[in-house]
Amino acid sequence: MISSVPDDITTQQPQGATVSTVVVPHLSQRELAEEVRRIAGRPAEWVSRVRLDPEGRWYEQIHVDDRYELWLISWLPGQSTGFHDHGGANGAFSVVWGALDERVAPRSGIAAAVRPVTQGVVRAFGPRYVHDVRNTARDSVAVSVHAYSPPLSAMTRYELTPGGLVATATETRESW
Ligand SMILES: [Fe+2]
Repeated sequence: MISSVPDDITTQQPQGATVSTVVVPHLSQRELAEEVRRIAGRPAEWVSRVRLDPEGRWYEQIHVDDRYELWLISWLPGQSTGFHDHGGANGAFSVVWGALDERVAPRSGIAAAVRPVTQGVVRAFGPRYVHDVRNTARDSVAVSVHAYSPPLSAMTRYELTPGGLVATATETRESW
């Protein structure tokens, strides 16, 4: 048996109630690159936060809001990220001390393109970008600044195999 539902139950709404959705615009690759240039040109805002850690890259978030975030990363010789994505975020980075090499994941095959990132160079990328960044110098540290929009919520790590990139793990923001 199907019982009827009084009309007044289905039509009751708080008087004057409105539903508002705040859409926060994300920064474009160009805007992120400008933000990276801006912070790179203001070492007084981050130089005292540079640390070196023999256990792995040292990183610290130096700004975050609803739209984007900034990170400072310090690299000893040999330290690297491994291949990773950025969870669908746009990103940009630049080196403010030393130099880094960026390996960009190939669309096919196993030969990743290596692109040096020296001081003053800004790399910007879109939401599907996968790369591996490392300090290949024998005896020089490197320091870099990174911007992401929206702020990173997850990152997937990959291994470059003869068959291409294979996802190995996904890290969420809570684990950083
Ligand atoms: Fe990255």
